[in-house]
Amino acid sequence: MVSDAVTVRVPAKVNLYLGVGPLREDGYHDLMTVFQALSLYDDVRVSPSTELRITTEGEGAAEVPADGTNLAARAVTEVARRAERAPKVAIEVTKRIPVAGGMAGGSADAAGALVGVVDLWDLGIERTELSEIAAGLGSDVPFALHGGTALGTGRGEQLMPILARGEFHWVLAISRSGLSTPAVYHELDRLRENRSVTDVETERPDALMAALTSGDPRVVAPLLRNDLQPAALSLQPALRRTLRAGIDAGALNGIVSGSGPTCAFLCADETSAVNVAAELSGAGVARAVRTAKGPVPGARVVVE
Ligand code: C5P
Repeated sequence: MVSDAVTVRVPAKVNLYLGVGPLREDGYHDLMTVFQALSLYDDVRVSPSTELRITTEGEGAAEVPADGTNLAARAVTEVARRAERAPKVAIEVTKRIPVAGGMAGGSADAAGALVGVVDLWDLGIERTELSEIAAGLGSDVPFALHGGTALGTGRGEQLMPILARGEFHWVLAISRSGLSTPAVYHELDRLRENRSVTDVETERPDALMAALTSGDPRVVAPLLRNDLQPAALSLQPALRRTLRAGIDAGALNGIVSGSGPTCAFLCADETSAVNVAAELSGAGVARAVRTAKGPVPGARVVVE
């Protein structure tokens, strides 16, 4: 059956753990990371059109490129190439995930477009081929497809599911201006110039993985770690105040999410998250404050 339009809902991610190894020859860094998908979603709608078009609405839409460089457009182009079809699709993205916020918003849109166009054209591509296309688009795209809680290695694109019991409650403080992921990695390389980076950086976080199985946020909270945090703080020093404000408001712990500048606070339960969010909003340290829970599933077609 040929559909008229397909809408895919895709979650944001937070890295509960981000161990960054040395800079590789291909310009990437080896990672050991634990991703969790959160209930903050972009919606990606794809429909037949006379040409490839992309429009974005919602938070930060003006900063999203509306041409072929957009990751969602690249996803459609790649699927079209493999299917030997013209990429005549209109992509409409409704953004809620902060743009350049360290929560894989662009990757989410790519994963959404990928799942959407495969469904629209009824291609029936296998999960492994989808993951391969996703990895070619960006390091975080496979996780946006996958969702849940997962261990990421390589550039972050090689995934293994992690058993996480229960629900975790997060508060997200979204910064007034974004950070470029390559710029944050470059800053980390600069900060590390005078020391050697060892394999310890990318050791598997067994304690955190065991804590996730327990489902107790109080056990998980002290084990959160992000090697990109010093680099993000170096580029946006005001984030220190944001992190302190979240802890002062009663969060169990707070970290910069991925390459930032969004700060993610793990809370004891839903009530605590609502209180922390209210206090953070009042403190004026962020452009916007959201609550979200995790883990949630990856990119899914939604029935309209
Ligand atoms: O894979 P993606 O295009 O999302 O990566 C964006 C940039 O982030 C890369 O060009 C690189 O500078 C940096 N990066 C990295 N190591 C990783 C993932 C991303 O250095 N594992």
